[in-house]
Amino acid sequence: MIAQSPNDIVLMRKAGEITKNTLDFAKTLIKAGISTQDLDKSIKKFIIDNNATPTFLGYQGFPGSACISVNDVVVHGIPSSKIILKEGDIVSVDIGVTYKGFNGDAARTFPVGKISAEKQKLIDVTQQCFFEGISHLYVGGKLGELSNAIQKHAESNGYSVVRELVGHGIGHELHEIPNIPNYGKTTEGITIPENIFLAIEPMINMGKRAIFLEKDGWTVRTRDGLPSAHYENTVLVTNNGVEILTL
Ligand code: CO
Repeated sequence: MIAQSPNDIVLMRKAGEITKNTLDFAKTLIKAGISTQDLDKSIKKFIIDNNATPTFLGYQGFPGSACISVNDVVVHGIPSSKIILKEGDIVSVDIGVTYKGFNGDAARTFPVGKISAEKQKLIDVTQQCFFEGISHLYVGGKLGELSNAIQKHAESNGYSVVRELVGHGIGHELHEIPNIPNYGKTTEGITIPENIFLAIEPMINMGKRAIFLEKDGWTVRTRDGLPSAHYENTVLVTNNGVEILTL
């Protein structure tokens, strides 16, 4: 969405703030022994207590309020009483929040207790991919400059970029145009207009980029079984730069 008024920006900032606060809250709950369903229940309550709606709940039939994806699950993990976090796991929590008709969308990958150095590096590089990307995001630039920067940073660290899933425009709808691939050429994509809201979300695999969809129709896993990490923020691009709304 391109902001049509200062009020659009105020409300998108508020949706982003609730999204950020929900992720901060989720982080405090993550420990060995908790089920992803219990985590999801607490996230749902937190969002509703903040006068907002969990956007993902019922979205195209999704049964949870958050996507909770453990280890080799790339994204869209369904919260379950049977999935119990254990020491050494990494868990990606992706949250959408709707506030007065405006949406925030953000994700983090968290460690469960003490994790391996390899997993920590994957989390760190995935976060760095986001910041590398937005350092190439500016009004009048090509979206492909961001995509290319993300891909370069991931691959220069020996990782691979998931291609089937992408970032997106955001605003009144959770998923709007444009699609934002985390790979590609600097010359590709739209020219960035002023006051556009985007959800930028590198999904980075430790091993190969191939993924598959489980029979449940949601859970996306790496083919090679190696872990994957996710880092997402909703941003606003203006002539003053990139404002991160969910950080
Ligand atoms: Co998103």
